[in-house]
Amino acid sequence: MMPPGSLALATPRGGRPPAARQSRFRGGKLGFSFVRLTMAFLVAAAPGRPQAQEDVPFITTPDVVTLAMLELAGVGPQDNVVDLGSGDGRIVITAARRFGAHGLGVEIVPELVAASRQHARAAGVAERAVFVEQDLFATDLRQATVVTMYLLPAVNLQLRPRLLALKPGTRIVSHDWDLGDWRPDRSLSLDVPDKAIGKDKRSTVHLWVVPAPVQGLWCSEGLRLEIAQRFQRFSASFTAAGATVPQAVVDGQVGAAELNAPGEATGTRARLRLEDAALTLAEATGALAAWQGRSFSRAGASGCARA
Ligand SMILES: C[S@@+](CC[C@H](N)C(=O)[O-])C[C@H]1O[C@@H](n2cnc3c(N)ncnc32)[C@H](O)[C@@H]1O
Repeated sequence: MMPPGSLALATPRGGRPPAARQSRFRGGKLGFSFVRLTMAFLVAAAPGRPQAQEDVPFITTPDVVTLAMLELAGVGPQDNVVDLGSGDGRIVITAARRFGAHGLGVEIVPELVAASRQHARAAGVAERAVFVEQDLFATDLRQATVVTMYLLPAVNLQLRPRLLALKPGTRIVSHDWDLGDWRPDRSLSLDVPDKAIGKDKRSTVHLWVVPAPVQGLWCSEGLRLEIAQRFQRFSASFTAAGATVPQAVVDGQVGAAELNAPGEATGTRARLRLEDAALTLAEATGALAAWQGRSFSRAGASGCARA
């Protein structure tokens, strides 16, 4: 697609006139998918950020890295890809053109938004690759199935609580920068001879899958399940009614709708499935074998009534 850095000359790296800073996306002739995506994502300005500003300079993700990001996230025609700080539009346009996805690019520099729309038209994907001039911190991400980012560590960390609160299963891919102690589910590094910055000419791509929020107390008849969760790791203790010590404590990985404790060290393996706000012990061995098939619901304000 576009040669890397091809828009650098059109992009002011310093300040912009106040009118441009305050301008907001104004729709022209809107196709159906354009309306569907933009209306779903646009929101009012983020609290505490009275005036939009650039938090990261414009540097392009080289095409080989763009492909690696979209492949790592397993992007396909069913996906809504949102690129936060979309630059010249390459990630969203590639997601639409090569992977058949719908995409939204959120970019604060008006010239880059205009250029991205032009590139999307030239690539024949303007219906599915939509660009808005907007502060990324003011973007409603709830419709996204994939979020892509090439930002900076501090910006990633600022975004982290919002990313973690997205629908479980949403994939997040970041070029180079991670999310602090929310460890990626997968990472890969690749040689990038045409990378515009850095002297080792390599890029790293990280993938996170938003885990289900399962922390807290869950109840079943005569049995309590207490889960401590830190990002995609969990520890769960199962305690029978009246008992003071748990029958079993297991730990493992939280996915979008499943918790897996392999139990290699303890001999007690557990797989819990999350469905319709209930956790079901779908597989259990060792100390939990007798409770296989049990379902748990979240405790009320007064804890577990009969456990
Ligand atoms: C490093 S570039 C990445 C561009 C593109 N995503 C890519 O990977 O090629 C970061 C982009 O974020 C934009 N940006 C910075 N702060 C922003 C903000 N608060 N809201 C929206 N876009 C922002 C910059 O203008 C720049 O184009």
